[in-house]
Amino acid sequence: MKVVILENAAQVATYGAGLFQRQLQSKPDSVLGLATGSTPVALYNELIALNRDGEISFQHSRTFNLDEYLGLAGDHPQSYRYFMNDKLFNHVDIDKANTQVPPGNADDPLAACAEYEQDIAQAGGIDIQLLGIGRNGHIGFNEPSSSLASRTRVKTLTQATIDDNARFFKADEYQPHLSITMGIGTILESRQVVLLATGAAKAAAIKATVEGPVSAACPASALQLHRDAVLIIDEAAAAEL
Ligand code: GLP
Repeated sequence: MKVVILENAAQVATYGAGLFQRQLQSKPDSVLGLATGSTPVALYNELIALNRDGEISFQHSRTFNLDEYLGLAGDHPQSYRYFMNDKLFNHVDIDKANTQVPPGNADDPLAACAEYEQDIAQAGGIDIQLLGIGRNGHIGFNEPSSSLASRTRVKTLTQATIDDNARFFKADEYQPHLSITMGIGTILESRQVVLLATGAAKAAAIKATVEGPVSAACPASALQLHRDAVLIIDEAAAAEL
């Protein structure tokens, strides 16, 4: 596991975007694994600018997102499909038919999870997977205690994650407690993994990820087992290393 410590969040976004730029330039039909949360937004803005300037194109790429709230359709403003359209897909030259987010409104969520795995496999696997990290060390919605071999499945959110994400929901708005998420085993199969973390609130999770034992207590610690994982973090997130 490689750890890159940079001064601030802007530098983290630029460095991370550079990895995606190189990936798309060397393989225009790359399969990209994408993430939601506030952390990747600055990276997406950089990719939008690179696309606008003609440096990169998404025309031949495919994308798979990590996770989605179960119970929210893609046009729901709090859904991760909506987020991805709003923060990236609507602003670049990607064919939306080539973008996949787990279907939060699937009639049969378990079947949808199995199909998602098949779709990733049929696409040839993920070339580069972007990750954020929860304060409790979750990746995607793989909460602590998730099996390190887990596949795409329905996962209950912990109260800590529900509380952390409550800021995105209005006070009287329904906030899902269930999700569909790629498993840790799914994530580990990506050829490259890029985890971004910024801010002091992530410092303890980063310490557990980098210096702790490989353990389901900190799902991100599984990245220690990956042969090409890079953590790009700012000084605040690195404070406990
Ligand atoms: C959510 C997402 C994760 C993300 C995490 C951290 O729980 N499912 O993929 O990493 O939030 O979000 P933020 O970057 O806003 O701290």
